Amino acid sequence: MEILTNQSVFQYNTFGIDVKTKYLASFKNIEELKELLQSPLIQEEKKLIIGGGSNVLFTKNYEGVILVNKITGIDIVEENEEHVLVKVGAGENWHEFVMWSINNQYAGIENLSLIPGSVGASPMQNIGAYGVEIKDVFHQLEAVEIKTGNTQVFNHKECAFGYRESVFKNVLKDQFVITSVTYKLNKKPVYNISYGAIKQQLEENNVEDLSIKEVANAVIQIRQSKLPDPQKIGNAGSFFKNPIVSQAKFEELKQKFPEIAHYLLPDSTVKLAAGWLIDNLGWKGKRVNNHGVHSKQALVLVNYGGSSGEDIYNLSEDIIASVKEAYGVELEREVNIY
Ligand code: EPU
Repeated sequence: MEILTNQSVFQYNTFGIDVKTKYLASFKNIEELKELLQSPLIQEEKKLIIGGGSNVLFTKNYEGVILVNKITGIDIVEENEEHVLVKVGAGENWHEFVMWSINNQYAGIENLSLIPGSVGASPMQNIGAYGVEIKDVFHQLEAVEIKTGNTQVFNHKECAFGYRESVFKNVLKDQFVITSVTYKLNKKPVYNISYGAIKQQLEENNVEDLSIKEVANAVIQIRQSKLPDPQKIGNAGSFFKNPIVSQAKFEELKQKFPEIAHYLLPDSTVKLAAGWLIDNLGWKGKRVNNHGVHSKQALVLVNYGGSSGEDIYNLSEDIIASVKEAYGVELEREVNIY
């Protein structure tokens, strides 16, 4: 376990931003993590824990220590006829875990195929896609408190999940390192294919016998058609969250923009598709030097190579201002800015 000085973060963020971190170290288990947290060299430094680095934008050098979570392992810890509880190391790659669950016939996360990032990040921002969120299969997680080095278990309620939110992005921000997550998966699949695009894709694929594998394949196809592959074009998925407005605000907008893409929520507020709002203002596919707005999904900002985080951040400011002016709606970023 080595603490490196003045290292590039290029390979640790899917945006492909090339800035430096003062210190960099990785850990493969809880003991190594605790040892690092106690190390005099970095004890007083601010810390950023990175898994897949798929939800960060570095706008400048990081003046602290980046700790890369490399805790692996997938273990079934409990099992009955209906469910399995699977405990997964936070450093495992999310999509590889989804593929493991499909190969073992455990249902529940097939709709979440191909989401970039690590297992540890999944509860952090309650990742979601195509009608499923991590909170639907979450059992509990283990985390180490940075200040004390103590291990703590968080149950579902304690994580305070919301739309792309959890306690770890709010009240407990930067206080815990998630070391493992336990999911409750189903042996008998309950399919969630109500999301329009999935149904359509399954039809196109002529699927007759529905299976979790077929659902995963459909999701993978949809994502590949709309979202850029971070291996080829730097990005962090949706850059903004879909804003939630009151019914009255929605009615007002609908008068002016009859086509506005939206979802009615159970509490009678309305979620607007930020992608639609941005697209409708002509931003989709706009390129400025080496960065821009993805050509197939306006919610995704991209780095074509060599762009700076600051440039991408400034573009996001311009988009926020333009959306605010046109619709009177304030967009919030989903990506964490450092
Ligand atoms: N739309 C446009 N133009 C665009 C993008 C979208 O008109 O450029 C319209 C679409 O036609 C559709 C609506 O907006 O009517 C919603 O679009 P889409 O189904 O692509 O989903 P989204 O709301 O833009 C969310 C998540 C994605 C997730 C998809 C599918 C957020 C912030 N994003 O996007 O998550 O994959 O739904 O469930 O909630 C991520 O978080 O990184 C991410 C990719």
